[in-house]
Amino acid sequence: MNSIEIITKKKNKQKLSKEEIAYMVNGYLSEKIPDYQMSAFLMAIVCNGMDKQETIDLTDIMIASGEIIDLSKVQGKVVDKHSTGGIGDKTTLVLAPLVASTGVKVAKMSGRGLGVTGGTIDKLESISGFQVETTKEQFIEQVNQIGVAIMSQTGNITPADKKIYALRDVTGTTESIPLIASSIMSKKIASGADAIVIDVKVGNGALMKTIEDARSLAHTMIEIGAHYQKIVKCVLTNMNVPLGYAVGNGIEMIESIEMLKGNGPEDLKELVLTLGSLMVSIAKDCTKEEAYQELKRNLNNGKGYEKLKELIVYQKGDIDQIEVDHFVSIKTPKEGFITCIDAYKIGEIAKKLGAGRMTKEDTIDYGVGVSLSVKVGDFVLENEELMRIYYDGGDISIQEVLDCFTFSQDVGELEPLIMEIIE
Ligand code: URA
Repeated sequence: MNSIEIITKKKNKQKLSKEEIAYMVNGYLSEKIPDYQMSAFLMAIVCNGMDKQETIDLTDIMIASGEIIDLSKVQGKVVDKHSTGGIGDKTTLVLAPLVASTGVKVAKMSGRGLGVTGGTIDKLESISGFQVETTKEQFIEQVNQIGVAIMSQTGNITPADKKIYALRDVTGTTESIPLIASSIMSKKIASGADAIVIDVKVGNGALMKTIEDARSLAHTMIEIGAHYQKIVKCVLTNMNVPLGYAVGNGIEMIESIEMLKGNGPEDLKELVLTLGSLMVSIAKDCTKEEAYQELKRNLNNGKGYEKLKELIVYQKGDIDQIEVDHFVSIKTPKEGFITCIDAYKIGEIAKKLGAGRMTKEDTIDYGVGVSLSVKVGDFVLENEELMRIYYDGGDISIQEVLDCFTFSQDVGELEPLIMEIIE
């Protein structure tokens, strides 16, 4: 067996054996296979795909490359949640404490982000003092004591995925359903939860641009989950427009707190209740409607907010100190209905301001970001506020901001947020 033969086989659309995939993945991890051969191998997969067995084999090899978290010491069923990533996606910050407030155990390992804004861990770190590093034992103890923990993923979980993902990021090999499905599912299976609810984002601000690709990714992840006897449910959601109003780390944390105090945006609320009712109904073996009603009650009666405060205190954060810079207000030059707010362009602005990192060595500016003052379907008068830019000396032109918005004299059709649920 050698790497050139294996690359050529995939280039010629032939099926690979588990031994051949392991040869490439483990060889790359142990530095026997160089970046350029692994890049060629990944590109052959992007172009020619992998069948179900090859995708499961790849997932298995990536899981076996690192440690597996044993959550059997956590009492009750543990349900995890994952998002394929989108602009303004702060769902976990609301969902984890809200679900935990119903008594369901949430043991969440999250990542730092590459790209437009940080990941969940970066958003939590905008809170002064918040600790995200822990040992496995402390993580399990916290879940047993307060029902929820959100920690940074340890370096030992799926190291093969970590190394391959970093290479995919810089070689144009991100967009492949078998590569995405095995990357996500290897991390989720190794993190130990009994069931996983996945938010698959669809649209111009997401990895999956079309509903067909999103469906195919969802089905692949459900099949991988079934192989490991894990329940996997996917919700396909619209990412043509940003989620909520805030895009940035500190301001997304503040929006999440407001949501749990009952003052959040409607789209975020709808998404949290939809994902949460799947998680709670699996864990408590009740109907989705019963779960939905319980979550809605806990959003309104402050129990979700109390759980967030408990989480922040446990992880040594100070909820009254969240990093946010000063802002400038951008006004509309004309009146009309807002028919589109381009998620991709908003993301590009947040990135330019320094809300995300382009390489894993970059530092994030927690205080910067953009906060929309309007949503699609709103009517604005001339000179009304469209957006606030929180910045620290960033270089953004007014025209660039205005280009994110489409105005019309007609209200237009509103796209639904929840597109499909695949169970
Ligand atoms: N998220 C992941 O964890 N992996 C991918 O390949 C894409 C999104």
